[in-house]
Amino acid sequence: MNLLKTILSGENRILSRVIRGRNLNLGDLEKNKRFNKSIHELVTIMFAVVLGLGLQELDHIDKETPCIDFGFLFVAYIAVILSWWFYHKGTIAGPAESNVLSYSIDCLLIVFYWLMMHWRGHLCWLLFFYTCMFLLYFLWELVRVYQPSDQIEREKVKHACTINLVFVVLSGLITAACWLLKRFPESDKYVCLAAVAILVVSYRIPISIIYSRRAHIDDGLWKGQQEMNSGSPTDMDRHLAERAKMVSAKARAHLSGFRVGAAVLSESGNIYVGCNIEFDNYSNTIHAEEAAISALIVAGDSKPVKIAVFTHTEEPCFPCGMCRQSLFELGGKDLVVLACTETRIEQALLAELIPSAFHL
Ligand code: THU
Ligand code: ZN
Repeated sequence: MNLLKTILSGENRILSRVIRGRNLNLGDLEKNKRFNKSIHELVTIMFAVVLGLGLQELDHIDKETPCIDFGFLFVAYIAVILSWWFYHKGTIAGPAESNVLSYSIDCLLIVFYWLMMHWRGHLCWLLFFYTCMFLLYFLWELVRVYQPSDQIEREKVKHACTINLVFVVLSGLITAACWLLKRFPESDKYVCLAAVAILVVSYRIPISIIYSRRAHIDDGLWKGQQEMNSGSPTDMDRHLAERAKMVSAKARAHLSGFRVGAAVLSESGNIYVGCNIEFDNYSNTIHAEEAAISALIVAGDSKPVKIAVFTHTEEPCFPCGMCRQSLFELGGKDLVVLACTETRIEQALLAELIPSAFHL
C-alpha cells in the first residue's frame, strides 16, 4: 500500500529516473512541441484506421449469433470513439506529454483497439482485453505523474491514475467471474457483453470529471462571477499563483536578483505566462506582466480578466505603474490583480490600482 502511495505521488526515485530519462528533448522547446503535435495527429490517424478496419467485421457477422456479434462490434466502436474523444480532451486539458514511454503506450492502445474489434472468440477474452487496456491507461497516467507539471495538474493525474487502477482490478475480477461462468449457456454472453459496455462507459465518467474540472472553474470566471473572488482565493486564483510561481524560476534577473512571474487569464479561459527579463544596459528590462500579456496578444486571444503576479518576497507586490497602465488598456478597470507570495494571495481591482488611468 505504501509502495503504491509512493508510486502515485511521483516520488519513487528509480521510477522517476527511468520515466524522466525517456522525456523527449530535441534541444528546442518549439521543436518538442511540434513533435508532440505530430504524434497526436498520427494517433488520430491510427484511430481512424482502426474504425475503418472495424467495418470489415460486418461481413463476418454469424447468422447464428447476430445479436452477440453485432453487440460486440458496437461496444468496441463505442470504446474506440470515446477513447479518441477523451484522448484528445485529455491531451488538451492534461499536462503536455513529451515522453517516449507514453507515445509507446498510445501505440499499444491502438493495437488493443484493433484486437478488440477483430476478436471473435469467447467474450471472456474481450473482458481480458479491457483489463489490459485499463492497465495500459494506468501506466499512461503513471508516466504523466512523473512529468514536470504544477500542483493542480499533478493532483488531477494522480486521481486519474487511481481511477485507472480501480478499473484494472474491477475488470480483472469481472473477467475471472465470467471465466467461471464460461460453462454456462449462451445467455451468459449477454451478461459479459453488458459488463463490458457498463465498464467502458462508467470508466469515462470519473475520468472526464477529473480532467474537465479546470474548464468548470474557468466557466465560472468568464460568466462574470467575479464577486466569488471578493473573499478567499478560489481554485483558479491558486492555480494562477502556482503558474506565476513556476515561471518566475525562468526570470533573467541577474541585475536586480528580483524574480517576478506573471500568469494572465483571458476571457476565453486560456492562461499565458511571463517572467521579467533584464539586459545589461538596464533600460531594456521587460516586466513579467509585459511578457505575459504579449504572449496573450501573440496568441490572438481575447481580453485579460485576471492576472497573478508572483514575487519571492515577504509582502505581496502589485504591478508597477507602467504595467498597470498596459493592463488597464487591455483588460479595463474590472481586471482582477492577484499579488502572490509563497504564503499569501492579495487581490485588487485595476480600478483601485490605477483610478484615473490615461487613455487617448
Ligand atoms: N518587475 C516586474 O517584472 N514587474 C513589475 O511590475 C515591477 C518590476 C521586475 C523588473 C526588474 O527586472 C525587477 O522586477 C526589479 O525591478
Ligand atoms: Zn511593471
